[in-house]
Amino acid sequence: MTRKPLIAGNWKMHKTVGEAVDLVQALLDGLGDVADREVLVCPPFTALASVRPLLADKPIALGAQNMFYELQGAYTGAISPIMLRDVGCSYVIIGHSERRQYFGDDDAMVNRKLKAALANDLRPIMCVGESKTQRDAGHAESIVTAQVRAGLADITAEQMQSTVIAYEPIWAIGTGDTATPDDAQAMHAAIRRTLVELYGAEVAESMRIQYGGSVKPDNADELMAQADIDGALVGGASLKADQFLRIIQFR
Ligand code: PGA
Repeated sequence: MTRKPLIAGNWKMHKTVGEAVDLVQALLDGLGDVADREVLVCPPFTALASVRPLLADKPIALGAQNMFYELQGAYTGAISPIMLRDVGCSYVIIGHSERRQYFGDDDAMVNRKLKAALANDLRPIMCVGESKTQRDAGHAESIVTAQVRAGLADITAEQMQSTVIAYEPIWAIGTGDTATPDDAQAMHAAIRRTLVELYGAEVAESMRIQYGGSVKPDNADELMAQADIDGALVGGASLKADQFLRIIQFR
């Protein structure tokens, strides 16, 4: 089974419109051959419309970092899946640990958002990951696989074809502290075993599981070489064109 790796940049709350356009242009200028991998950028909402025309017919997809599950209505400050489609997004990150930590997104919310994304032709990247305390207590695998099960409740095997999972240990995000390739691989394998239980081997083998958490130019190759790691969700290093390009060109 060959799974096309997905290298995604999660810009978080960074970049004005002008800065976003400059970064995308620099990525396009340096991209090179990406036929065997998929590239995605997830700028803040405010830059999506300005970045979109630059990406037309280019091998970089556009995604958002979050959305609400309702399609429209009196939800001040929220952005709907319809709006994301309208502005050219094909992907949306759901349940990032920062959303869970600062904005109260729990597994039930993640599940509702996932369903809304899929119902509106957006490919969700569902993030899961354990805290340092949970890992130190030996609970990492049970926590993460429980997040996978809860987040995917009532999602069909067919919908899974459009879904990506990102394993992002919270203690590795923005800290420079990466999971070792062996530890990351072990968790990815555990997630895939859970997918086998839920959807069968064929679906589980076809699904992409990204690693995220301090992915940098100097550790990307080793992480991406692991059997069950199918790409990266990159925060800090996706904000600098040269660094993100090097990660995209992992070998
Ligand atoms: P980081 O962020 O690469 O800065 O650790 C990853 C993420 O939060 O998606």
